[in-house]
Amino acid sequence: MTMLKMTDLNLKDKRVLIREDLNVPLKHNVIMSDIRIKAAIPTIKAALKAGAKVMIMSHLGRPTEGTFEEQFSLAPIATRLSELLNREVPLIQNWLKHFNMGNHDVVLLENVRFNNGEIDNEIGLSKKMAAMCDVFVMDAFATSHRAEASTCGIIQYARIACAGPLLISELQALTSLMEKPKKPVVAIVGGSKVSTKLSLLESLTKKVDYLVIGGGIANTFIAAEGYTVGKSLYEPDLIDEAERLTTTAKSRGAEIVVPTDVVIAEKLSDHSESSVRLISQVDDNEKIYDLGPDTIQKICGIIKKAKTILWNGPVGAFEIKQFSEGTEAIARAIADSSGFSIAGGGDTLAAIEAYKIADKIDYISTGGGAFLSFLEGKPLPAITALEEHAAKGEKVL
Ligand code: 3PG
Repeated sequence: MTMLKMTDLNLKDKRVLIREDLNVPLKHNVIMSDIRIKAAIPTIKAALKAGAKVMIMSHLGRPTEGTFEEQFSLAPIATRLSELLNREVPLIQNWLKHFNMGNHDVVLLENVRFNNGEIDNEIGLSKKMAAMCDVFVMDAFATSHRAEASTCGIIQYARIACAGPLLISELQALTSLMEKPKKPVVAIVGGSKVSTKLSLLESLTKKVDYLVIGGGIANTFIAAEGYTVGKSLYEPDLIDEAERLTTTAKSRGAEIVVPTDVVIAEKLSDHSESSVRLISQVDDNEKIYDLGPDTIQKICGIIKKAKTILWNGPVGAFEIKQFSEGTEAIARAIADSSGFSIAGGGDTLAAIEAYKIADKIDYISTGGGAFLSFLEGKPLPAITALEEHAAKGEKVL
């Protein structure tokens, strides 16, 4: 991977436009997790330290292009950035028109997705953004799977476009995980549907020693073993795929760890009565919401011996106490493990925050979709654009 690096450039007195992914979960304008904002701070500080005039750009949510919508404003993020950077970070509206940074050395540009042409990667918008800076820094790993004007188009037209430190550390961590992981390697993949993670399961089946599955994904594998899953979410059309993945894993001496016992209830509610069942004992009107104790014990044993652990997705409905044991036990086993651990995905980050184990995970990716795309082996358009830009051999500052 050959890309220009921000840290190799002379940024003194340069107008530096940094694309970050500050798309954080908000509830009534309150930030629910600031992991992505904190992850961007070292890059911003490094640019400031190098003497740059910094403009930060990000999207938030999926607003209708061309209209300002309060709920998608970056105002709460500007406040949090100001706290973390210990200086005022003004939020600039209508920044495609000329604006003055005044005495500020760092500003935040209002939601880039308020601009027409962002999602469609329009040339006109890309050129306008490119003209705003001397150096464009792509640091938003979590949006690198999107070919949008602020992640891709701008790279084509910027005089200098380079990779930021966060983007580089994400790529390095994930590349070493996929290319030369220490064995045994265990991947834990939760989530509701096999269909949304089929390519990931496919890719991991060929690489890991143990593929632990949870959530609705596990139900499809349980059904593939011939058991009833009651009224649980599962995908009958993907039973053949589940069988194929199991055969692929076995053929290379790996194992897909399918639950042998589960926690069931009749419905998902704080007040549900839950029970433990062997997978052969799930009734027609029951729904599976978590792993059972025997399965948890087996998985924790596997994690304990693992040298590399990848975690994406809770294994049960962990927001509800009765169904949280599987996810909590796995989170704690990963935290206690001496193996190299890497985690990513929105729900996974929520679980990591809930159990306060962030400092015990070796690498937490800021990526959701981008994290999955990388692990699936798909090209990330923003990375391709940076590589093409470097290959053009533009004059480097
Ligand atoms: C994410 O949260 O995965 C990224 O910020 C990308 O957001 P998007 O799915 O709205 O493009």
